[in-house]
Amino acid sequence: MTKAQGLHVSTPRKLPHRRTLRVQGGAVLIAVALSVGYTSQLDVDEKPNPGHSKTNKELADVTFALWRPALKRLLHRAQPESQTSEGAKRHPSKLPTAGSQDGRVASRIRDQRIGMQQLAVLALPVSLTGRLAGAAVLVLIVTVYMKVKHWLETPSRPYETTEDKCTVGNEYDKWTREGVLEHYWGEHIHMGSYLSPKAKNGFCCQWDFFIPAFIRATLTLLMGRLKDFKEAKLDFSEEMLLWSGARNPKKILDVGCGIGGTSRYLAKRFPDAEVQGITLSPEQVARATELAKEAGLTNVKFEVHDALNMTFEDNSYDLVWGCESGEHMPDKTKYVEEMSRVLKPGGNLVIATWCERDPIPPFTLKEHKQLDFVYKEWRHPYFISISDYEKRLNATGLLERVDTADWTKQTLPSWRHSIWVGVWSPWYWIKCSMKDYRQFLGFVRDAYTLEQYHRAMRSGLLQYGMMRAVKKVPKEETAPELEEAVPA
Ligand SMILES: C[S@@+](CC[C@H](N)C(=O)[O-])C[C@H]1O[C@@H](n2cnc3c(N)ncnc32)[C@H](O)[C@@H]1O
Repeated sequence: MTKAQGLHVSTPRKLPHRRTLRVQGGAVLIAVALSVGYTSQLDVDEKPNPGHSKTNKELADVTFALWRPALKRLLHRAQPESQTSEGAKRHPSKLPTAGSQDGRVASRIRDQRIGMQQLAVLALPVSLTGRLAGAAVLVLIVTVYMKVKHWLETPSRPYETTEDKCTVGNEYDKWTREGVLEHYWGEHIHMGSYLSPKAKNGFCCQWDFFIPAFIRATLTLLMGRLKDFKEAKLDFSEEMLLWSGARNPKKILDVGCGIGGTSRYLAKRFPDAEVQGITLSPEQVARATELAKEAGLTNVKFEVHDALNMTFEDNSYDLVWGCESGEHMPDKTKYVEEMSRVLKPGGNLVIATWCERDPIPPFTLKEHKQLDFVYKEWRHPYFISISDYEKRLNATGLLERVDTADWTKQTLPSWRHSIWVGVWSPWYWIKCSMKDYRQFLGFVRDAYTLEQYHRAMRSGLLQYGMMRAVKKVPKEETAPELEEAVPA
């Protein structure tokens, strides 16, 4: 007996309407994919769009309504021709009359066939092994999806400070050593400003879905009309300086200076001034000093110094500057008190920091969860609201003309722009990931976190807070230049 004769060759079971099933299966998958994508956006996009009568959810509903008939038609076409109305017209003999005995039996058989077809869609691989393999793959996909989701949604870098461990300083040391932040963000580790209509190109649209937003920004980039990422940060520093009201400071303190981008900018802008930058990270001090030397600047220096326990003399700086360092402070009152203490009478204090909204109405459970994530992922103890900052600044008793502003709108594009630059130019982070796969996981987490910040800022849960004030001049002292210190 030959091998071929010994084999039991079974005739493959002929499934009715295979093409039909494929089309239906495809349609169901498209529907599921679109619905998942659609519903994943719902929770964050119910905010009204400025200048538009519809919310994003309503706009999404319109789109949903647009593709639904197409899907229906697809499903309709997928049915055996005799069951469709056009089919019935073309083959009247195939459709028994409803009232007849034949008609009832045929209708029952037809119903059963349709039911079988729907079920068969779920069991496209026809053999038992195929079905089991399909089910196993499905379980695997769902398990991996759930695991990744859980991993991403569980914050992993909380704020902790003990005597022998300073997570903020350590985290910035690590980032400085990696060089990724400096490669993509440049010397300024803060948000950029996208104030002008031209700067908003590629970002300003009522559609806020992640993928369309990415495509829009990419097209704008290809057309050469997207604002440069690093330039936006420099613009922010310029706008912050203008807003601070400082005119000609001679001594400047940069509280939480990073790798000194802003300190060097101020040192160049005011060549007669002395600029002091402070940070918790020794690696940042080393890099900031190196960059200042490369730039040939002699009027700027850096040191490791805790903003909450500054050893600088009272009344010693004309301009005290805190850009995106307040977020890391476990004691916000001490933060503003210390900055006010070292400020000279008549001097300018300016703070830019991420804030949470006022707790009216109270935060929902979902908002609490969002806040918990954004705090515990990037070493932040907690944020406070803009009005809370205002109260604490006034409560120092040392300041006057305390003023606040919300710069969420002009800084919003920054969050996603930070992700896009990594996608458009991935070589640097790929190179780092190849050295250590944990770095890759860190980059994925950072991209996810940036998106969470974008959503929280866009929904109004977080706000980009700006604060400015002038230190009171004791009655007996005169400060002739004070009147021109703060612009209207
Ligand atoms: C997001 S970076 C801001 C960098 C910088 N302002 C810039 O514009 O490029 C936050 C900085 O705040 C510093 N920082 C956080 N807590 C601090 C503290 N208690 N004392 C001094 N610096 C602190 C960090 O070390 C880091 O340099």
